[in-house]
Amino acid sequence: MNATSSMHRAPRIRKAVFPVAGLGTRFLPATKTVPKEMLPIVDRPLIQYAVDEAIAAGCDTLVFVTNRYKHAVADYFDKAYELEQRLEAGGKLDLLQRVREVLPDGVRAVFVTQPEARGLGHAVLCAQPVIGDEPFAVLLPDDLIWNRGGPGALAQMADLAQARRSSVIAVQPVPREQTGSYGIVATDTFDGRHGRIRGIVEKPDPAIAPSTLAVVGRYILDARIFELLERTAPGKGGEIQLTDAIAALLGEQPVEAYRFQGTRFDCGTHIGLVEATIRFALDHEAISEQARDAMARALAELGVADST
Ligand code: UTP
Repeated sequence: MNATSSMHRAPRIRKAVFPVAGLGTRFLPATKTVPKEMLPIVDRPLIQYAVDEAIAAGCDTLVFVTNRYKHAVADYFDKAYELEQRLEAGGKLDLLQRVREVLPDGVRAVFVTQPEARGLGHAVLCAQPVIGDEPFAVLLPDDLIWNRGGPGALAQMADLAQARRSSVIAVQPVPREQTGSYGIVATDTFDGRHGRIRGIVEKPDPAIAPSTLAVVGRYILDARIFELLERTAPGKGGEIQLTDAIAALLGEQPVEAYRFQGTRFDCGTHIGLVEATIRFALDHEAISEQARDAMARALAELGVADST
């Protein structure tokens, strides 16, 4: 890139917010003691996949919005001196490397508390003192997005946000009967993977949903969203909804919907977590063959398929 083009480019996002202060009720009783974000897919907790995606997109400041029960998330990103010493002394350098990669050098983790679970919008607002007035990313770790061999969803979005100097929200089509589980957008005609958002509504009934394009848990937002969140009254479910503040932002600035390249697993649901586990196990360098065999055996035992 030459000096002239760099002068005209919008800055790249550097800060990412991970709202992880929800109660995780759908995974009770497991989430009585283990935060949802710490549930593993093979050998890494859900939060690690989202963190890696943010770092790959260029973020170096990770802001975790937690609650007083979620010490496990902070502990996970803390340095484990004794463990590292033992792995080193035992010559387990592979494992040592994996433990150290949890938070690479040059990336810092900041923790802020959401005192009460007042909704996703409120959780994002709690990150304001760390974010300041620059555009930032929001990642919901229970949406695991996998783009095998290609750039992560957030990196794709960051490119678009930088090129168009706009906020960007990840979307994907869902069956109409599922609109009541998502934020749904109305957009202009898409230009490739993106289209300008003209309207957004939280969890509309299928009969009145403006489209079947659903928001999934990746956002790049202008810092103006904080002032709009401050003014947002509790909406659906009595919670302060990020969707409602985004609806206000649309009136002031362009916001793009982006259909990312990759597969999204909704790990906030039982089946989504299981499906992600199966897919990652089948693709895992150490256990893929065993995973295939195990799956074939299980299907055969259940009479669903032939094991040959
Ligand atoms: P969810 O709607 O998935 O809620 O929140 P939840 O509490 O995590 O899970 P269930 O539905 O009870 O099983 C979407 C995201 O917003 C965060 C959650 O941690 C999750 O990442 N969130 C939600 C907060 O951080 N604070 C809140 O007050 C609400």
